[in-house]
Amino acid sequence: MALEKYLEVLQNELDTYQYGEKPKELYEPIEYLMSLGGKRLRPALTLMAYHLFEDDWQKALKPAMAVEVFHNFTLMHDDIMDEAPLRRGQPTVHEKWNRDVAILSGDVMLVAAYELLSESPGNDFKTILKRFNRTAAEVCEGQQMDMNFADRETVTEEEYIEMIKLKTSVLLGFALELGARSAGQPEEVVNQLYEIGVNLGIGFQLKDDILDVYGDPIKFGKQIGGDIIENKKTWLMLKALEKSEADSALHHWIRAEDFEPQKKVQAVIEIYNALGIKELAEGAMTKCFNKGFEGIEKLEVPEERKAILRGFAEWLFGRDR
Ligand code: IPE
Ligand code: IPE
Ligand code: MG
Ligand code: MG
Ligand code: MG
Repeated sequence: MALEKYLEVLQNELDTYQYGEKPKELYEPIEYLMSLGGKRLRPALTLMAYHLFEDDWQKALKPAMAVEVFHNFTLMHDDIMDEAPLRRGQPTVHEKWNRDVAILSGDVMLVAAYELLSESPGNDFKTILKRFNRTAAEVCEGQQMDMNFADRETVTEEEYIEMIKLKTSVLLGFALELGARSAGQPEEVVNQLYEIGVNLGIGFQLKDDILDVYGDPIKFGKQIGGDIIENKKTWLMLKALEKSEADSALHHWIRAEDFEPQKKVQAVIEIYNALGIKELAEGAMTKCFNKGFEGIEKLEVPEERKAILRGFAEWLFGRDR
């Protein structure tokens, strides 16, 4: 069984899923965003986790799709908050249509996610629902912290890790947890998988922060430097601030209200380069991924199934998109 097989079947299910028909202004943006692809890593995690324990992995397709639809809902709203022009190499929904459409289409995607989740296999849907709700609330908490931090001059590394754990990692953790729960695994195993997802997820967001500055715009599919323009307190920004004197050029750019976005991005990248921030961020990212890899090794499951999960985590670690 190869990763491509999960993705192929999953893609087919997503392509044929009916979100709704009328009014078309509500549903077209969903089909648009969902059709732009993406790595589909969260549903792949759910399928892999289920398949660690059960053969009939196709039974986990609906909950896997629920996680992907939920993720895309958060992206639609995140792009409004971040004023992002591009997603997956194409205009964001609020740019292509407008902000109100992006808000409402996003809302109905959350409903679609619940609909799909309700078709999870296993006999403890109540727990799955409670855990999904907790995760969704945490993502919102992380998103609010992310916005709060943009308005603050200093943020500690500990606060940053807490913020990305909430906005990003808990969903990767939940994606793995959901596979294990759907397969009826005991709490101990469910928690093991959740922790693997959280650790991989922290590394994953660190990589996202690095790619936001150093990625190839074509492959990454998002505006390069968007975090810099928005004063996001990414790991790179925190480290650069920590290494800069008070009232440095970096502080000047953060406080600037009237600036040419590209000039700011260029200037901040030069500061990062002079301080060796990229290498430091890669070091921090590697540590988080390694915790995830250690967790995978400790799983007591057949080696050939574990190998798919390990291979997938390695790909995530090395990704450039
Ligand atoms: C983007 O997630 C949002 C983050 C949490 C960094 P992905 O990088 O998984 O986006 P897609 O789904 O592959 O486009
Ligand atoms: C977003 O983090 C996490 C969520 C969508 C909840 P980012 O704002 O860094 O994600 P991208 O870079 O826009 O995909
Ligand atoms: Mg954001
Ligand atoms: Mg964003
Ligand atoms: Mg980002």
